[in-house]
Amino acid sequence: MTATATAPTVVPVDLADRSYEILIGPALLANAGAELARRFPGARYAVITDETVAERHLETLAASLTDADLAFSSIVVTPGEGSKSFEILESVVDGVLSARLERGDLLIALGGGVIGDLVGFAAGIVRRGMRFVQMPTTLLAQVDSSVGGKTGINTRHGKNLVGLFHQPALVLADTSALDTLDPRHLRAGYAEVVKYGLIDDAAFFDWLEANRAEIFAGGPARIGAIASACRAKAGVVRVDEKEAGVRALLNLGHTFGHALETACGYDAERLVHGEAVAIGMVLAHEFSARLNLASLDDAERVRAHLASAGLPTAISDVPGDIGTADDLMRSIFQDKKVKRGRLTFILTRGIGEAFVADDVVPDQVRAFLEEKLEG
Ligand code: GLY
Repeated sequence: MTATATAPTVVPVDLADRSYEILIGPALLANAGAELARRFPGARYAVITDETVAERHLETLAASLTDADLAFSSIVVTPGEGSKSFEILESVVDGVLSARLERGDLLIALGGGVIGDLVGFAAGIVRRGMRFVQMPTTLLAQVDSSVGGKTGINTRHGKNLVGLFHQPALVLADTSALDTLDPRHLRAGYAEVVKYGLIDDAAFFDWLEANRAEIFAGGPARIGAIASACRAKAGVVRVDEKEAGVRALLNLGHTFGHALETACGYDAERLVHGEAVAIGMVLAHEFSARLNLASLDDAERVRAHLASAGLPTAISDVPGDIGTADDLMRSIFQDKKVKRGRLTFILTRGIGEAFVADDVVPDQVRAFLEEKLEG
């Protein structure tokens, strides 16, 4: 490692023969070559990234791979959700095969959630499965999408409908990359950090309330928050890798959130995923209070904390028209399993006490949304 590196925080993801480590800390991209050479002797690499991330980080990573004498090629795709498509997947697969990478070689996903999902999927299908390394460069990808092996692309029928579970061989979460992330995306990623406190760790939520300013400023508190989030996710994934049960808790706020993203036509100018999750988490707490499962005081505490981070917390915070309660219900029905006319939702008994409810009455959700749209 070069002189600029401090020892990273290591979070293990314990999954039998698919176990791997998440390294969290500064300058991990600048030191990636030595780390990869030590872990995967003799391997060659294809770095897959998008134009925006390439401009900010590809030179640093490429220099580090070259310094460690590692052979690699790069594939640069268009930034944005549109790249999670069959067309771009084909171009990535074609690039990997053209570079003559073999089964023991590795793909590197350098970027945010879109790149991680796309490259993880490509790695899962090329040569019937190649190894890959996640190098997440956004907070959202560092605390959520790069961990746990969900990969996939979108189709005209919806998001993430084609993909597979394929765990990375290593995650390098370089916290220096967050220094160049635009503030809106830092805030959006923070919503997913807060989510882990709300699911089952009230003490972590207390800590976030006390340390939010330091986390946004960078430094040890930020690394601590990312590591706690990754530990929480690793714990869930270890017991339920394929989302047969508790992993669904990680979708807290996502049902309402996805409906709002759909209403915005996935227009990132209006709403990015983490912002939708922030509003969705407040709605999940308020709806739980409406059902007398949780207190409105907790919902207000959640709202106040997310608002203090500069996140939107109400449907009325989304710019432009988002349609009617029936429009939102249509998205919710498309997104959710419906069993005997009841919906499955992640609800809560209070901060740190989320649970999977599989008997939610659609009319109660509709009435709640109608009220929220009026207010
Ligand atoms: N982002 C939710 C999950 O990985 O399960």
